[in-house]
Amino acid sequence: MAVVVRGRWEVACGVLLLLSAVATATDHIVGANRGWNPGINYTLWANNHTFYVGDLISFRYQRNQYNVFEVNQTGYDNCTTEGAVGNWSSGKDFIPLNKAKRYYFICGNGQCFSGMKVSVLVHPLPSPPTSANTAQHSTTKSASPVLLKSSLRSLVLSFVLACFGCVWIN
Ligand SMILES: *[C@@H]1O[C@H](CO)[C@@H](O)[C@H](O)[C@H]1NC(C)=O
Ligand SMILES: *[C@@H]1O[C@H](CO)[C@@H](O)[C@H](O)[C@H]1NC(C)=O
Ligand SMILES: *[C@@H]1O[C@H](CO)[C@@H](O)[C@H](O)[C@H]1NC(C)=O
Ligand SMILES: *[C@@H]1O[C@H](CO)[C@@H](O)[C@H](O)[C@H]1NC(C)=O
Ligand SMILES: *[C@@H]1O[C@H](CO)[C@@H](O)[C@H](O)[C@H]1NC(C)=O
Repeated sequence: MAVVVRGRWEVACGVLLLLSAVATATDHIVGANRGWNPGINYTLWANNHTFYVGDLISFRYQRNQYNVFEVNQTGYDNCTTEGAVGNWSSGKDFIPLNKAKRYYFICGNGQCFSGMKVSVLVHPLPSPPTSANTAQHSTTKSASPVLLKSSLRSLVLSFVLACFGCVWIN
């Protein structure tokens, strides 16, 4: 990537972009410190999290012992991997949740029947406010994490727009 940095403004933009990218993508670790193992009710875990487009879901487990398959609802209900959309087996799998839809993951070696299945509903990003003023307004007003997160995202959007603007002018 041949990017020539010409001014302080561009450097600032780059740093902001980098920081905001780090700040917004949430990594949801399945089962938290209990990881991906049999005998855990992952419905309880999923109910405790809110998932947005662009977030990651990550599975941590003993590799060679377990694995992860993305399946459809039939596969989730019946613990079958037929027609699986994807499969992972590194023991530390980071899976991007790129679409607003319900995702289904199961363990493909039979442990699905022992509870190694999880379904998460991924929400679309809240639509950004029309100006930076609105973003500022909602930041000061909001107390809930969801609203905070949404205003953080619109802040990021403003930075991105500002950066495209400054590059374009140069
Ligand atoms: C997991 O918890 C949910 C919510 O309380 C419950 O509906 C479900 O039956 C539980 N699943 C198992 C396998 O115990
Ligand atoms: C839900 O989240 C809270 C706060 O992070 C945590 O204390 C609690 O153990 C979680 N419950 C489950 C079932 O994961
Ligand atoms: C899934 O299981 C249900 C019963 O639990 C059954 O009616 C259905 O035919 C099964 N679907 C497939 C694709 O095996
Ligand atoms: C899931 O995939 C299987 C295999 O491709 C297919 O037979 C089944 O109808 C699908 N189920 C749903 C709910 O899409
Ligand atoms: C796992 O995914 C790979 C592609 O990433 C595919 O070639 C392979 O057939 C899949 N394995 C199973 C058991 O579905």
